[in-house]
Amino acid sequence: MERRTTLADNIARFRKSKGYTQEELAGKLSISSQAVSKWENGQSLPDISLLPTLAGLLETDIDTLMGYIPGKKKMTLYEERYRSREYYWGRQPGRMCLELLERFYPIRPLRVLEIGCGEGKDAVFLARNGYQVTAFDAAETGIEKAKRLADIHQVEIRFFQADLRDFRPEEEFDIIYSSGVFHHVLPGIRNELMKHYLSHTAPGGMHALNVFVEKPFIPKPPDSDPEAENWRSGELFTYYGDWVIEECREEIFDCNSSGIPHKHCMDTVFARKPL
Ligand SMILES: C[S@@+](CC[C@H](N)C(=O)[O-])C[C@H]1O[C@@H](n2cnc3c(N)ncnc32)[C@H](O)[C@@H]1O
Repeated sequence: MERRTTLADNIARFRKSKGYTQEELAGKLSISSQAVSKWENGQSLPDISLLPTLAGLLETDIDTLMGYIPGKKKMTLYEERYRSREYYWGRQPGRMCLELLERFYPIRPLRVLEIGCGEGKDAVFLARNGYQVTAFDAAETGIEKAKRLADIHQVEIRFFQADLRDFRPEEEFDIIYSSGVFHHVLPGIRNELMKHYLSHTAPGGMHALNVFVEKPFIPKPPDSDPEAENWRSGELFTYYGDWVIEECREEIFDCNSSGIPHKHCMDTVFARKPL
């Protein structure tokens, strides 16, 4: 199911998420629709001089379009944190995980995708409660610890290492779950990525997501990733206009993750896809 995107895939994906046909995109670039078709089939490449306009029309940037990920080395931030024997985020499930259990109990097999599972505390909790869990994170050290935690609790979880910026699941899930991760989804890919997750959720399925939100009166946390970018207040909720929003909330809370007390603002949504 893992798939690395290529320029061809990216052009097709971003074009569709913008709602353009190949003809419409070609028209905007004053080229033939056959040229766009060939790019998307991998038979030819766009002329380099077209790339800025193409990226602009698709509301992304050239790096993303080309599949170039300059931030790979930034993963070392979490790679380092997860290297110790202690569980940096602890072993107890997060609050959103408990709320999910109350809202959408697995009386039938429910397939969960956890994005950015860290050291696996939530994935393991969900698996222990009967969900079928697939979970990934960019940090290999986190995945290793998550696998160990799953072994301790004797649960089967499909864990793998992947970068959410270029990994697109091809299968459908009943639940898309992610906590404390989406500030790594930079604005240039938010729309396309969210649409992918929305369309890869089964009817009747649920999104349980939270994102850190920018507030001018809250200073940057001491352990924040300089490459990440908080969302705007309410931005997350705008993706669920045609879903049933079971709950959405915005909260400010205290955190001590780096040993230095600080605050975060977070938007959380539980939304259900109509049948
Ligand atoms: C604040 S931690 C949250 C971890 C976990 N969700 C939890 O609640 O314990 C953020 C996680 O996002 C992961 N992450 C950061 N950038 C990522 C990316 N581009 N792709 C996948 N995971 C990423 C980090 O490795 C880290 O585990």
